[in-house]
Amino acid sequence: MAFPQTVRLVEVGPRDGLQNEPEPIGTETKLALIDRLGAAGLTHIEAASFVSPKWVPQMADHREVMQGLTRRQGISYSALTPNLKGLEAALECGVDEVAVFGAASEAFSQKNINCSVAESLERFAPVLERAREAKVRVRGYVSCVLGCPYEGEIAPAKVAEVSKALYEMGCYEVSLGDTIGVGTPLKAKRMLEAVARDVPMDKLAAHFHDTYGQALANLYAVLEEGVAVIDSSVAGLGGCPYAKGASGNVASEDVVYLLDGLGIESGIDLDDLAATGSWITQAIGRPNRSKASVALSAK
Ligand code: HMG
Ligand code: MG
Repeated sequence: MAFPQTVRLVEVGPRDGLQNEPEPIGTETKLALIDRLGAAGLTHIEAASFVSPKWVPQMADHREVMQGLTRRQGISYSALTPNLKGLEAALECGVDEVAVFGAASEAFSQKNINCSVAESLERFAPVLERAREAKVRVRGYVSCVLGCPYEGEIAPAKVAEVSKALYEMGCYEVSLGDTIGVGTPLKAKRMLEAVARDVPMDKLAAHFHDTYGQALANLYAVLEEGVAVIDSSVAGLGGCPYAKGASGNVASEDVVYLLDGLGIESGIDLDDLAATGSWITQAIGRPNRSKASVALSAK
């Protein structure tokens, strides 16, 4: 299969990238980050997470973030909403799009959202129904698609089963999360092939964390299979609060560098994005995990 001509990046830095930061980050800093990402050409920005502040304190200012955005035309600002309570709050704040998040691992589901996989799907059904009424699109995440911090190996058939359930429930896109970044390219391909038998390829996104340094290689593998939506985080920020040791998402700058080199259109200005990565890492005192960004800043 040929590479896609264009790829849509979903920037998850303001949510996945920041959710694990132990020290509170000011709402103004989050808003400035979101604005700079929009200026760099990102059209899909996951801005906040309407989850319990007891579970994820860093996302407690979700309302202020969602309401404080300086909206740019053509950008979809989304948020995680694990249940109706989260969805109602996000709708009140004028969210453009929401996401529910499930897992292909029972143990991870329990740790992350305090219920079984089957219970999570039951919980998502009214969220999708209410979102449909409000004309807000819903994305579905599946975590642990290439391995689980508690259960180890995860069968591709299980990933396919949960993905299919989310898609049939009405999620317009299913994002496949290598939550702990343990995957390797052939494994990623096999998992994708299993899922693509149940969900059309153009409804799938790759959400790869880079814990073992394999994320770009895994992305190359799934791009070859026809995946055309990639989740990434500026400067490779992040880690999952319920997956100890997991590092951030693949860095957005590195993905754009790869896409540019392959002649795949993303609409993103790499220099602007790299400058944003340098700025946010300095602002929050974190290392810049984008090699492309570090190389460009050293020029
Ligand atoms: P629970 O304790 O089972 O829920 O948590 P509950 O309904 O019994 O409520 C307990 C308390 O939470 C109550 O407050 C509720 O009001 C409150 P209390 O009465 O104790 O004061 N509550 C809420 N507050 C704000 N917003 C809400 C909300 N819902 C309940 N929406 C729940 C269930 C899902 C809420 C909880 O487990 C939770 O918040 N989990 C969040 C986990 C999370 O955010 N994880 C990180 C994001 S997922 C991820 O990073 C993976 C991804 O990137 C893909 C990948 O990499 O694989 C997406
Ligand atoms: Mg993630």
